[in-house]
Amino acid sequence: MSTPQEYIDSNKDTFVEELFELLRIPSVSTDSSKKEAIQQAANFLLDQFNSFDLQKTELFETPGNPIVYAEHCPHPDKPTVLVYGHYDVQPSDPDELWNSPAFEPIIKDGNVYARGASDDKGQAYTHVKAIESYVRTGNPIPVNVKFILEGEEEIGSPNLVPFIEEHKEMLQCDMVLISDTAMFGEDIPSITYGLRGLAYMEVEVVGPNRDLHSGVYGGAVENPLNVLCEMIAKLKNEDGVIQIPGFYDNVVPLTEADRKASAELPFDEEKYKKSLDIDAVHGEKGYTTLERASARPTLDVNGIWGGYTGEGAKTVLPSKANAKISMRLVPDQHPKEIAKLFSSYFNSIAPDTVKVTVTEHHGGHPSVTDLSFYGLKAAAKAFKEVYGKEPLFAREGGSIPIVADFKRVLGVESILMGFGLTSNAIHSPNENFSLKDFHRGIKTSAKFFELLAEN
Ligand code: BES
Ligand code: MN
Ligand code: MN
Repeated sequence: MSTPQEYIDSNKDTFVEELFELLRIPSVSTDSSKKEAIQQAANFLLDQFNSFDLQKTELFETPGNPIVYAEHCPHPDKPTVLVYGHYDVQPSDPDELWNSPAFEPIIKDGNVYARGASDDKGQAYTHVKAIESYVRTGNPIPVNVKFILEGEEEIGSPNLVPFIEEHKEMLQCDMVLISDTAMFGEDIPSITYGLRGLAYMEVEVVGPNRDLHSGVYGGAVENPLNVLCEMIAKLKNEDGVIQIPGFYDNVVPLTEADRKASAELPFDEEKYKKSLDIDAVHGEKGYTTLERASARPTLDVNGIWGGYTGEGAKTVLPSKANAKISMRLVPDQHPKEIAKLFSSYFNSIAPDTVKVTVTEHHGGHPSVTDLSFYGLKAAAKAFKEVYGKEPLFAREGGSIPIVADFKRVLGVESILMGFGLTSNAIHSPNENFSLKDFHRGIKTSAKFFELLAEN
């Protein structure tokens, strides 16, 4: 009988081929024409769980995309791990910037290139294969496991929150395990212990009832695009400090210990700038780049449009201007409260020459994992055994809002065991995932279950 670790080594290539099958399914959750692909991806995962002979597998329909659920809990005296991941992906556009088609995975220089390779199909799949390595070798899965793989993470998990509230009993567990974050760098295993929250706004500034001739009316009638730019300029001051009254009221300040831990991380600012082709970094005064990008709140314009943007020059004074603006949040900022504060401030700075509407998109709560949580020790040890190095502990700037909901509804901590890299280009063209990390990820997951059972 082989061990799970041996099985993972000898099935390396098969696992990659299977991952390719999953990556070929264009399960884009923002695109309503991709409903069939969503079903297909969910069924692909369900079929795998069904072939493992687990105690329970089920596809839960929701008003949106289905939730794939599986569980195997034969040990009343062992901890229960709830593995969370998402099988939905971001759209692939702009497709012309991909070196190979987004949904036709290829391997180049040891990386697989495809939408979802890292975020999150490749990472989530490591845990599926870890379970397989027990099942197929006849070794009992050492702890109790539950899987919840959703298809709406990239659209804010609108149906998962009510789902976990309605299935508290079924989802009862001792911890959540998630691989949907990045390592600090290549061969630098890391455990993420903080994620930012999100408030996402859309604004519209309306002036005259139609686009006007900019010569005939320009100078006499307010231009909504000019106004929008002026209003956006008032959202932050020159020190990068957000000007919305009350915005920082509930921000938990960084402690000296936080700042020291962050300063000790092996961050190379020169390399960082070079990787982005920028000459200088920028952000809130008084904070380091790492702090700005992970532990401090932000405000960014994600898109702005209006007026004439076609070929040549059309002389027009536009009737409307729009922008999408996001704010990344840190504990204890509340997304709904921040959205309200944004709305009132934005309305208060509007001149009476325009009409302003502010609408709120999906948001999410920030989270920080308790560093003394015992599950982290098993996770760190698993990393050490597979990567040969102790993992670092770092906060990250991205958001996985369900982490805060797991804590609120189920009362449990999440272990963020990321195998990705910041260079994976998630949400961008040419998304990729290192096959070495895919392989090591499977081994780390299998090892984690083993070590957790020993505790
Ligand atoms: N996996 C990412 C979040 C992430 C990426 C966390 C890198 C840490 C490091 C997730 O799929 C994602 O993209 N989340 C969205 C938020 C969601 C509400 C749409 C995000 O962060 O923009
Ligand atoms: Mn993700
Ligand atoms: Mn994502």
